[in-house]
Amino acid sequence: MVLDLNDYVASYDDFPKKGVKFRDISPLMEDGKAYKQATDEIVAYAKSKNVDLVVGPEARGFIVGCPVAYELGIGFVPARKEGKLPGETVKASYGLEYGESSLYLHADAVKPGQKVLITDDLLATGGTIEATIRLVEDLGGIVVGTAFIVELADLHGRDKIKDYDILSLMKY
Ligand code: PRP
Ligand code: HPA
Repeated sequence: MVLDLNDYVASYDDFPKKGVKFRDISPLMEDGKAYKQATDEIVAYAKSKNVDLVVGPEARGFIVGCPVAYELGIGFVPARKEGKLPGETVKASYGLEYGESSLYLHADAVKPGQKVLITDDLLATGGTIEATIRLVEDLGGIVVGTAFIVELADLHGRDKIKDYDILSLMKY
């Protein structure tokens, strides 16, 4: 049976700031069938792109990307926030719907020419994905696709990454 994944996304008004309607994929992750269906759709997309490596931004990009990498038998690289990675890093700063942040990759985590899929739970303003793309490309990776469970269409995140292919399982 194919599930309607919209039934597994919760909405919260005024979180984490007044005026923000927060879409939460916790119900989807808590349900094994829904989580598997979402993962399987992203795995099929990754196969169509011949992906070598999955990269996901902290923290919810890990939740989406790790099972995809595991299923494909390829590596997963976490793009981490400030002060988390012990080795030599590359850095990218960006703005968020509700703040500012920086992401880092270990400088040897992506090899030149590797075909990379970037995963995250949600595309909002596009700041996070744009910064993650910059990091991967700084290291010589080729971003062959980006995959999200939810896209907040009103925030026009896809306009920031016009040159890249996007899979979003649900749009609000
Ligand atoms: C959220 C979400 C995406 C990003 C989307 O993460 O998981 O990564 O914001 O917003 P954007 O498209 O405007 O950049 P957040 O930075 O809140 O971090 P978290 O996953 O650690 O909660
Ligand atoms: N949900 C989850 N993460 C987010 C959101 C949201 O609505 N907006 C920006 N990051």
